[in-house]
Amino acid sequence: MKVLVIGSGGREHALVWKISQSPKVDKIYCAPGNAGTAEFAENVNIKVDDIAGLLNFAQEKKIDLTVVGPEIPLVLGVVDEFDKAGLKAFGPSKAAAQLEGSKAFAKNIMVKYDIPTAQTGIFTDPAKAIAYINEMGAPIVVKADGLAAGKGVLICQTTAEAITAVKDIMEKKEFGSAGDTVVIEECLVGEEASILALTDGKSIVPLETSQDHKRIYDGDKGPNTGGMGAYSPAPVITDHLMSQIDVEVLRPLVAGMAQEGIPYKGIIYAGIMVTKQGPKVLEFNCRFGDPETQPILMRMKSDIVPIFQAVIDGKLNNREIEWHEKAAVCVVIAAGGYPGKYEKGMPITGIDKVDQLANAYVFHAGTKFPGPVTSGGRVLGVTALGDNIKFAIKNAYQAVEMIKFKGMQYRKDIGKKALKYL
Ligand code: AMP
Ligand code: GLY
Repeated sequence: MKVLVIGSGGREHALVWKISQSPKVDKIYCAPGNAGTAEFAENVNIKVDDIAGLLNFAQEKKIDLTVVGPEIPLVLGVVDEFDKAGLKAFGPSKAAAQLEGSKAFAKNIMVKYDIPTAQTGIFTDPAKAIAYINEMGAPIVVKADGLAAGKGVLICQTTAEAITAVKDIMEKKEFGSAGDTVVIEECLVGEEASILALTDGKSIVPLETSQDHKRIYDGDKGPNTGGMGAYSPAPVITDHLMSQIDVEVLRPLVAGMAQEGIPYKGIIYAGIMVTKQGPKVLEFNCRFGDPETQPILMRMKSDIVPIFQAVIDGKLNNREIEWHEKAAVCVVIAAGGYPGKYEKGMPITGIDKVDQLANAYVFHAGTKFPGPVTSGGRVLGVTALGDNIKFAIKNAYQAVEMIKFKGMQYRKDIGKKALKYL
């Protein structure tokens, strides 16, 4: 069969890599892809938001399965368009993708279906938002409602900071129309984890747990990024907590969306804060996490292609997924200056050396040929397996040290939080 993967990040390289291992697959295309996806797939130069272009291509090539990586095409309705054309695409519909596309929509669902989350106010009037901030006090979290490439969440230590954030988002339109509505939340304290689950709208199959590292510097310091590293499993999520998340978050969410008449199909990503009062939802994403997907898929033994097909066909039926017992760690190597301004076009060396290692693999993100050279902020996700998290960390960093490009930066503490549970 022929598969199309939409996207160009580390997540998409991991998806292409995993899909390429399926005996069912003859040919993979990746739009637009990166230097890493080119090893297993034919990269095609179509942008992720060019829905008509993607559909044309899939029709012309008679693609049997399309897997959508990023949120933008999902929120634009790529799956609806493919459905209408009789093509199979993995991911939620436009209406269901609002769980990520609108934080206000997601909050309203959580409140209606009693899903534990931070106490929240939703506002379209800045004066009312400011009055709410003054009533609640600081610390407090201000979020732009719409998609803002991960930058629309501001954790404010003072009410003055929060009021400035409201003005920047709603009046100065720092994130454009994504800031027409703001969501203001109680600041939750605890350890975060990423819970990803497959669902066909009825059955729910959680993947193995993982934890991201959102800040740029060691010790969770500095500005937020797309994610500087991840590991799986995340021991903060005990079996007890996982069943609590299943019962209190995943089940009511999937049942609630069905009740709303917008059944959710695809992968649902719940960002969870483990607070003293139990797990609470920080956000929903309507797609695989990046970089969480890299360590998760490295641990997946099962063929992923029949799983995608079962979700699309509504036949997930609590399917069992097989996992490696080992732990996996992904260390992201970013361009100097990221998440601010950074240079592109730096030649990268050492990937061939990592290829010699049995336990490690380099997933590309912002790279391109000829070279490879750097072409984005997050450049590579060096991912390794180990008998436990400690060895996975050691193996990942051993591989990281083989990679060189000018200005490269990476966190030295990926996975460290998991060590205390050993
Ligand atoms: P989001 O895009 O909503 O996940 O927010 C990005 C990051 O901001 C999360 O991963 C958290 O680290 C942090 N965050 C979001 N909401 C809250 C909250 N209510 N309390 C504390 N931290 C939060
Ligand atoms: N790693 C965070 C995200 O994918 O949103």
